[in-house]
Amino acid sequence: MAVKPQAEFPPGFFRRIDESSDHDFYREPRLVHHLDEATLTALTAAYRELVPAGARVLDLMSSWVSHLPPEVEYASVCGLGMNPQELERNPRLRAHVVHDLNRDPTLPYPDGSFDAVLNSLSVQYLTRPLEVFAEVRRVLRPAGLYVVACSHRLFPSKAIAGWQALEMDERWRLVTAYFALSRGWTRTTHLDRSPAGRDPLHLVFAARAAEPAGEPGPAVRRAG
Ligand SMILES: C[S@@+](CC[C@H](N)C(=O)[O-])C[C@H]1O[C@@H](n2cnc3c(N)ncnc32)[C@H](O)[C@@H]1O
Repeated sequence: MAVKPQAEFPPGFFRRIDESSDHDFYREPRLVHHLDEATLTALTAAYRELVPAGARVLDLMSSWVSHLPPEVEYASVCGLGMNPQELERNPRLRAHVVHDLNRDPTLPYPDGSFDAVLNSLSVQYLTRPLEVFAEVRRVLRPAGLYVVACSHRLFPSKAIAGWQALEMDERWRLVTAYFALSRGWTRTTHLDRSPAGRDPLHLVFAARAAEPAGEPGPAVRRAG
């Protein structure tokens, strides 16, 4: 079933202050962390729980760090991002591609290639999220997990207007809406793993359904 364009959202929701090529914006490497240390530790702990050892992993919108637990071995970790130097510096990646998802949301991987797909701290930069979520579904095996981690920091000129207008509690709900509207997901779950007094951390994840669903997905579950 074809994914509808983002007709469900208000006009201008996916606009950005800087509509120039993302390649220009990400031309210079940024070898920095995008969250405080306690929140990064919480993110790695969440990945330790959610992504099984031996999995084939895709780190979407990747950079020089994938936040995966260093002691866990995966069958493979592939990265897709915008800056080749950042991706080359990432010690977890076995392979990487530079690919602008706003220009072309098609993922350059065969169907069912991965057991888990991660998107850390970057979903706010997607201007065509429903198409990207549908592509993630395609490249996951049935029951494979898509984990979206989000927080409050962002590049204001490149984050979509709709995201910037929302409070943190509405932002993770938007991610659940992306899952529901892109169809074909089950067991959509939200985790609030924000360490007290530090950067917030919300994870929303869902499993690829065996077949594309005809109706929007079920309401989100809350987990601890
Ligand atoms: C805030 S950084 C987060 C990087 C990394 N995922 C992390 O958790 O530290 C945003 C990332 O999104 C990626 N990105 C931004 N726009 C993109 C696009 N149009 N297509 C693919 N990746 C994009 C950039 O390459 C950059 O690495």
